[in-house]
Amino acid sequence: MKIKKPFVFINCAMSLDGKISTIERKQVKISSDEDLKRVDRLRAESDAILVGMNTIVTDDPKLIIKSERLRKERIKKGLPGNPIKVGIGNVNGMKLNSDFLNYGDTKLIFTTENSDPRKREELEKKADIRILGKNRVDLNKMLRILSDLGVKKLMIEGGGTVNFEFLKEGLVDELYVAVAPRIFGGITAPTLVDGRGFNADKAVDLKLLGAENLHDLLVLKYEVKNSRKYI
Ligand SMILES: NC(=O)c1ccc[n+]([C@@H]2O[C@H](COP(=O)([O-])OP(=O)(O)OC[C@H]3O[C@@H](n4cnc5c(N)ncnc54)[C@H](OP(=O)(O)O)[C@@H]3O)[C@@H](O)[C@H]2O)c1
Repeated sequence: MKIKKPFVFINCAMSLDGKISTIERKQVKISSDEDLKRVDRLRAESDAILVGMNTIVTDDPKLIIKSERLRKERIKKGLPGNPIKVGIGNVNGMKLNSDFLNYGDTKLIFTTENSDPRKREELEKKADIRILGKNRVDLNKMLRILSDLGVKKLMIEGGGTVNFEFLKEGLVDELYVAVAPRIFGGITAPTLVDGRGFNADKAVDLKLLGAENLHDLLVLKYEVKNSRKYI
């Protein structure tokens, strides 16, 4: 039986030429402090935040709500201070002392049978590890599990591969893109949406819902047309 899908949105910061990092493919400050406050509010409104394994390994994001006021407001509503952190992909490169595993509240990792069983066992000290497929994590099954855990709103914070995987499956409802007035260039720099890409007839169509100018950093909000509402 199909169930209502959690609301899924992507938030990303990119250079004017669509790159979400430089050719060094590691964390780089793209947006402004003002924009990071907007991102913090989006995190506070979410039940879970998801990132891909390359982002976990290279950027090691804390993925917590920075504002104490926003955390307290969540606790007052009976919610955990921070949303569930979700990682997806092969766990072999994860470190037990990573910020991803050592900050925040619940951590959940969806992986495949390709991950080293000893590594999975080691990481289980810090996170709930779920195997959901032989080579690929089944995103529909993953969203069903998150829904069972009470996730109604899921925020995706990249990278480009994960953004592609979710868009390909028609699972994204909205997209926020902060476009910074900078150019990174480089054919190997990650972009907003990477993966295999879409043929013209499968391109993802969007509707612009809003645009805000934060001192030359443009925040665009889009609805994804024809996204799936049930899984
Ligand atoms: N500017 C921003 O807002 C922002 C935000 C986040 C990250 N970034 C940048 O983005 C870059 C990383 O992006 P990325 O595209 O390389 O990596 P990514 O999207 O963070 O992670 C990709 C990894 O996730 C795995 N994965 C994705 N979907 C999967 C599925 N359904 N089943 C199993 N595994 C799955 C991939 O496995 P496979 O290899 O098997 O496909 C791959 O190992 C970094 O440079 C980071 O700094 C920027």
